[in-house]
Amino acid sequence: MSSKPRLFSGIQPSANSLQIGNYIGAIVQWKELQASHDAIFCIVDLHAITVQQDPTQLRENTRRTAAQYIAAGIDPAASTLFVQSHVPAHPELAWILNTITGFGEASRMTQFKDKSARQGADSTTVGLFAYPTLMAADILLYQAAVVPVGDDQRQHVELTRDLAGRFNSRFGDTFAIPEARIQRETARIYDLQEPTSKMSKSASSEAGVVWLLDEPTVTAKKIKSAVTDADNDVRFDPESKPGISNLLTIYSVLAGESIASLEAEFGSRGYGNFKTKLADVVVATFAPIRERTLELLADPAELDRVLAGNADRAAEIANRTLATVYDRIGLLHKA
Ligand code: TYM
Repeated sequence: MSSKPRLFSGIQPSANSLQIGNYIGAIVQWKELQASHDAIFCIVDLHAITVQQDPTQLRENTRRTAAQYIAAGIDPAASTLFVQSHVPAHPELAWILNTITGFGEASRMTQFKDKSARQGADSTTVGLFAYPTLMAADILLYQAAVVPVGDDQRQHVELTRDLAGRFNSRFGDTFAIPEARIQRETARIYDLQEPTSKMSKSASSEAGVVWLLDEPTVTAKKIKSAVTDADNDVRFDPESKPGISNLLTIYSVLAGESIASLEAEFGSRGYGNFKTKLADVVVATFAPIRERTLELLADPAELDRVLAGNADRAAEIANRTLATVYDRIGLLHKA
């Protein structure tokens, strides 16, 4: 067994491409941490069915998400990279956790409140309500110490910690208590057209979302038409200049330059010049990832083989935890 701390994280295959918020909020951290951690990265397809999905699209998006993890730099030989539904222990543990989660506690999850408000009461399902306990199961099955995510997942990781503590005190020490790892500066990337809303795979307007698999010309166009204020001064001020501040964050992460040095470089030279340079940086980052993703997708059988092998590795760990849980809560062993 590895002596490195265990890390777990995941992304939903809910679109045919990741968006750059997923990359900057989650994958950049994953890449940084994968060498120093026993890292497990999941494609959480069972979470993606908590809103309506098309079966053919879901299957395709699951492969595409896996290919993007690898193309972006996750190494499936060093880390474990697998599809959630390939390891049945996830929904099994989620069921157990449902039985120790308060109805009121689950009702307070802001992501549930937002998503159910958007969908309307009639299409809000029990599955969407139980999304956070499935996420807790993902993390707790692997005894993960560290969970690198964007800011919108903080509350779910808090719930996971509460559930782990509750289970441990009721049934004896079983789960490690995980810690969210959220990079303050990049925890929230905003929509390019609506820079006060989070960039999201389910955004209403295409122009505000930069997809990893967009053609380079499309990416450049979206960056150049991002909404900014009128004063033309490249300065980081999220309160009164949310648009340009968001672009500065993106630039800073992708180019590895501090915001202060970007302000010094671009300051009063106008937005046009800054956006052109940023478009180059974004395209230079994502064009190779896009190309590699398309190469990987050209051989789906090989991709499926890698995912199957990784799922076996994941299942070994997950099944051990699940067996302990079943035993602790008093389920009868099958003879
Ligand atoms: P998902 O697919 O909605 O988001 C995946 C990751 O991307 C981050 N993210 C962002 N970060 C910064 N700015 C944005 N605009 C932005 N949009 C998305 C999210 O915070 C997340 O880290 N529920 C999880 C998936 C999940 C999971 C888990 C994560 C299921 N089980 C266990 C960690 C551990 C989610 O939000 O997926």
